[in-house]
Amino acid sequence: MASRALFLFLFIFVFAGCASPSAHTRKSGRNLRSKNPTLFVQVDGHKSSWTRSELLHLPGVERVKLPKDPTYGARVKSFVAIRAANLIKKVVAAKTLAQLVRDNAQLEFKCLDGFSANLSLKRILNENQRRAIAYIAIELPNKKWPKLKTGRTAGPYYLIWQHADRSHIGPEEWPYQLRGFVVKTPVNLRFPKIVPGTKNKKVLVGFRLFKQNCFMCHTMNGEGESRLGPDLNLPLNPTQYFRAGMIRRLIRDPQNLRHWPESKMSSFPPSVLSDEQITDIIDYLRFMARHKSNWPVRGHKSK
Ligand code: HEC
Repeated sequence: MASRALFLFLFIFVFAGCASPSAHTRKSGRNLRSKNPTLFVQVDGHKSSWTRSELLHLPGVERVKLPKDPTYGARVKSFVAIRAANLIKKVVAAKTLAQLVRDNAQLEFKCLDGFSANLSLKRILNENQRRAIAYIAIELPNKKWPKLKTGRTAGPYYLIWQHADRSHIGPEEWPYQLRGFVVKTPVNLRFPKIVPGTKNKKVLVGFRLFKQNCFMCHTMNGEGESRLGPDLNLPLNPTQYFRAGMIRRLIRDPQNLRHWPESKMSSFPPSVLSDEQITDIIDYLRFMARHKSNWPVRGHKSK
């Protein structure tokens, strides 16, 4: 029974984890074969990276013995590894990290084949022996790990857990062929001016839908990463200059309102956003119209 469960785990992992055979053959594999591959850790704007020889010279590199792991079973009994917390702490101050953990920040791992997924930052940073402890296993050039089905090893870097069972670490939380990790402050904290200060359910639902569907192209109160579409609050909010019903029409399909082939805005058919969901987004926009940040925003040159 236990071995069947493990097999199922392995099965899920091979398909959900970093290994994606087609992607591997597409990539040149240059990085995979690099003699001194790097590993990076990025926290918002701060990024550090280490080559394998640099990693091996860091204090805290140790041998970690594992009875088994989802990738190799019991085929590799001990790994040369460094605590993941050790590396992440080199990139940002402990105080910032503590705040990120309180805010439930996620850590996104990036793999050589382009695969990426999220892990809880809190779990990765844990150093309490009563719970699982995350390590970055480092493949030694003269002592390679066994090959996986794809013909490559799990190297150059593989995230492993000591006492995985103590924190119920799932098989998808063991990414291999790692390039690095990215930690991002949650959107609401990075962009506080987009957050509606209200308990109104519809406005809050609208806000969530706005972040999922609109924020990747539009800024709000001057905040956001993309400048593709206009700011939706400054200097005027579209609810202030579009006649009732017209915003809904535009969201359904911008070409319903004004037609031009170069329009960059996507349409949102009912299968993507229901009428009610559009109403919620408009409620959020209306709310924000009454809560504008200062205009002009940084970067705007008024004449
Ligand atoms: C793929 C990028 C993209 C997405 C996603 C997107 N927009 Fe847009 N939006 C644009 C661009 C670009 C424009 C400028 C006109 C154009 O190119 O169609 C625009 C125009 C608008 C306008 C008209 C502004 C004006 O003054 O003319 C409104 C309102 C608007 N978007 C709201 C939204 C809302 C609400 C959402 C989410 C449901 C959304 N957009 C999603 C890119 C996007």
